[in-house]
Amino acid sequence: MTAPLEIRSVTAADVEDIALLWQRGGVSLGDQDRSEITAKLDYDGDLFLLGERDGIVVASVMGTYDGHRGRIKRCVVDPDSHGEGLGRLLVEELERRFKARGITELRLEVWAENTGGRAFWDSMGWTHLEDIRYYSRTLS
Ligand SMILES: CC(C)(COP(=O)(O)OP(=O)(O)OC[C@H]1O[C@@H](n2cnc3c(N)ncnc32)[C@H](O)[C@@H]1OP(=O)(O)O)[C@@H](O)C(=O)NCCC(=O)NCCS
Repeated sequence: MTAPLEIRSVTAADVEDIALLWQRGGVSLGDQDRSEITAKLDYDGDLFLLGERDGIVVASVMGTYDGHRGRIKRCVVDPDSHGEGLGRLLVEELERRFKARGITELRLEVWAENTGGRAFWDSMGWTHLEDIRYYSRTLS
C-alpha cells in the first residue's frame, strides 16, 4: 500500500532534497535554487511546505505574503507521483495556513504554455484572470 503524504514546513536540513525535487519536477532555475530555498526559510518559513512519503520528499510549494496578497510559487510534485492527488493535498494545506493567518486573497503566475499546470489550478478552484498583463524589470 502507498504510504500517506506527510506535510510539514521546510527546514534548513531539506535544502538539498528540495533542490533535487525542483530539478526532477522541472521548476529549477539552476545555480540559484539552493540560495533561494535557504533565503526563503527566513521569510514566512511556515508557508514553505514539503510533502514526504516514507521519508522521501515528493512535493513542495512556496507560499509568500507581501502584506497585501498571499502568493504561491514553485508548486511541484515528483513526476513519478503526478496524478495521485499530492499537489491537491499540499496546496490545500498551504491554503489552510494562509487562512489561519487571515490571508484570504491569493495570486499566482503560470506560464501560458504550461497547460498541465493551468489545468491543475483550474481544478483547484482558482480563477484565471484574463485582463491582467504581467511586467518584469531587471535592475542593473
Ligand atoms: C501541477 C502539479 C503540481 C500537479 O500535481 P499533481 O499531484 O499531479 O496534481 P493532483 O493529482 O493533486 O491533481 C489535482 C487536480 O488537478 C488536476 N490535474 C493535475 N494535473 C493535471 C494535468 N496535467 N492535466 C489536467 N488536469 C490536471 C487533476 O485532475 C485533479 O483534479 P480533481 O482533483 O478535480 O480530480 C504537477 O503536475 C507538477 O509538479 N507539474 C510541474 C510543475 C508545475 O507546472 N507546477 C505548476 C506551476 S506553479
